[in-house]
Amino acid sequence: MTYSRVVVTGAGGGIGAALARRFAAGGARVIVNDLNAAAAESVAAEIGGRAVPGDAGSEADVRRLIDVAWDELGGIDLFCANAGVLSSGGEATPDEVWQRDFNVNVMAHVYASRALFPRWLDNGGGRFLMTVSAAGLLTLLGSAPYSVTKHAALGLAEWLRATYQHRGITVQALCPQGVRTDMMTRGDGASASSSLLASGALEPDEVAAMVFEAVQGDSFLILPHPEVAEYYQRRATDPDRWLGGMNKLQRSFE
Ligand SMILES: NC(=O)c1ccc[n+]([C@@H]2O[C@H](COP(=O)([O-])OP(=O)(O)OC[C@H]3O[C@@H](n4cnc5c(N)ncnc54)[C@H](O)[C@@H]3O)[C@@H](O)[C@H]2O)c1
Repeated sequence: MTYSRVVVTGAGGGIGAALARRFAAGGARVIVNDLNAAAAESVAAEIGGRAVPGDAGSEADVRRLIDVAWDELGGIDLFCANAGVLSSGGEATPDEVWQRDFNVNVMAHVYASRALFPRWLDNGGGRFLMTVSAAGLLTLLGSAPYSVTKHAALGLAEWLRATYQHRGITVQALCPQGVRTDMMTRGDGASASSSLLASGALEPDEVAAMVFEAVQGDSFLILPHPEVAEYYQRRATDPDRWLGGMNKLQRSFE
């Protein structure tokens, strides 16, 4: 299946930019969204796409993005809801930070599906790829907001998939562990876990190539790091043992 009309949020850098480049190389026209307008313009210029800057965590901006993209492309085949943010800290993290992370990591997907799914239901369907994280299946030590919001994003992805699968809308959840992007290297995240994840980190281009293949199929989970499937199974099979192991890791960081 070819996707010729693609939107990617948070595509000014990192995984989003790699997705935009990969789908453009595959022949798609790509709408490049990012909060950073200059970064969105630069990626769009490079791939012959169009930049539509805006905040993925703002409903007005997401509606505008989808309106502009739909008009410009004559529809949308694939929407990559990729923008995300990572903050370090635990339960004491200030409410403003919890709220910002919740908006970008969770509500962005609510806003996009709310604007897009009625159009898809009227026009033969589409594909909704959510960049979640292995943290949504497991946890990320050092960052409660990230772990919690990514679990919520995965919960939404499962709900959307279960609700719309028979109506022409395919929902997939991309759940990588470490990927070598600014998010991982800028150090505002859970630095101890980030440095641990760095050892098995993939390049954004590698992840984009895997996504390009994965959207040919319908598997709900896209796991660029295959070991995540095993950790996820261990977590479900024996949560006490799994959490004990995570706590041991936490103690090794302290
Ligand atoms: N890098 C990793 O190790 C890793 C692992 C698992 C999941 N992820 C997820 O992958 C996605 C992309 O992360 P990345 O590593 O490429 O990060 P990144 O920080 O390198 O790039 C994210 C891009 O999103 C943009 N952005 C941030 N907030 C935005 C908003 N509100 N609206 C629109 N754009 C916004 C940024 O300007 C940036 O260009 C995120 O959802 C992240 O949680 C990353």
